Amino acid sequence: MILITGGAGFIGANFVLDWLAQCDEPVVNLDKLTYAGNLESLSAVQADARHCFVHGDIGDGDLVTRLLNQHQPRAVVNFAAESHVDRSIHGPGDFIQTNIVGTYSLLESVRGYWSALPADQKTAFRFLHVSTDEVYGSLGKDEPAFTERHHIEPNSPYSASKAASDHLVRAWHHTYGLPVLTTNCSNNYGPYHFPEKLIPLLIVNSLAGKNLPVYGDGQQIRDWLYVKDHCSAIRRVLEAGRVGEIYNVGGWNEKANLEIVHTVCALLDEMRPRDDGRPYHEQITYVTDRPGHDRRYAIDARKLEQELGWKPAETFESGIRKTVQWYLANPDWVTHVQSGAYREWVQTQYADQ
Ligand code: NAD
Ligand code: TYD
Repeated sequence: MILITGGAGFIGANFVLDWLAQCDEPVVNLDKLTYAGNLESLSAVQADARHCFVHGDIGDGDLVTRLLNQHQPRAVVNFAAESHVDRSIHGPGDFIQTNIVGTYSLLESVRGYWSALPADQKTAFRFLHVSTDEVYGSLGKDEPAFTERHHIEPNSPYSASKAASDHLVRAWHHTYGLPVLTTNCSNNYGPYHFPEKLIPLLIVNSLAGKNLPVYGDGQQIRDWLYVKDHCSAIRRVLEAGRVGEIYNVGGWNEKANLEIVHTVCALLDEMRPRDDGRPYHEQITYVTDRPGHDRRYAIDARKLEQELGWKPAETFESGIRKTVQWYLANPDWVTHVQSGAYREWVQTQYADQ
């Protein structure tokens, strides 16, 4: 079995659902259920004996050690993090605590467990750390995309805390021999994405008749990847990645924010036209820019493609269409996130476990 952390969040929940749809290997899912953790996203596997949810913190060494000894995982995949840049600007403390101190504690718990494994299991064990392209900093308009050898130059409290965690993971490999893998992925989008991030916020605000806030001039560039392609990349790296290596994950989909906004508006005009027949782009509002806003991210994913033969299944056009369709087909999920009812899901659905 494998142990994953942060599996009630956006990417972790997609990962659990895809994993259990594709194989029978059980998953223990450790998640603290911060505001970003939503067990409703995992309702499809709530009664599935292959999925064991544990409410807890990666920084709780006693709990993590107990889980490792009890379940004897062959791998740990670490998704758990505070992940929203705007929140990190307003309150960096949680980012330092979970992303840095929490990762340190998790590494120590895993090292203790791994050290005591029999030789063959010790060799086969993997610790996969899920990280972001934001650790590389910001690119100029004509600079080549980030390779794995790019300088680490984080600019936000979020990216700095992720960069610190990446360094810890690297050090635990070089110093203690822990068999680690690190993935640095570009911006994800897709089902179960909390509507504080750009794409789900655009969909939800459009439908609610609210403003579509564009920071600054809207010309910042992000490199977008459909979440299920990120999940397939993680599975591939876990399966065949070389120990100690970093793999950049991306789909060569650089888009300016304003283009994203217009694409989402156009899809909604087609799939769920406004009652008054007016286009959704009339709801666009330019707002004050984010402090220290990175101008451009772009991922060079050739190492992953050439070494491990990974390729994304979706183009941006197919992925964004699926995403808008998913939000239109799942209004209850959105309503429960907005009302806060999703936070009660753990009490009502998992009370007897
Ligand atoms: P998310 O914020 O949606 O989910 C994070 C999950 O971690 C939540 O379920 C939360 O409850 C849990 N968590 C937070 N602190 C915890 C702790 N101390 N112990 C246990 N669980 C805790 O984030 P996401 O978008 O799913 O991102 C997952 C990972 O992928 C993060 O490490 C993030 O840095 C990385 N990443 C995200 C993106 C993206 O575009 N979303 C891109 C590249 C990398
Ligand atoms: P976000 O989804 O927060 O991801 P990240 O900051 O990790 O890249 O934001 C994506 C881009 O969209 C980023 O350049 C900030 C911008 N943005 C807006 O213009 N308006 C918004 O309301 C939000 C949430 C983001």
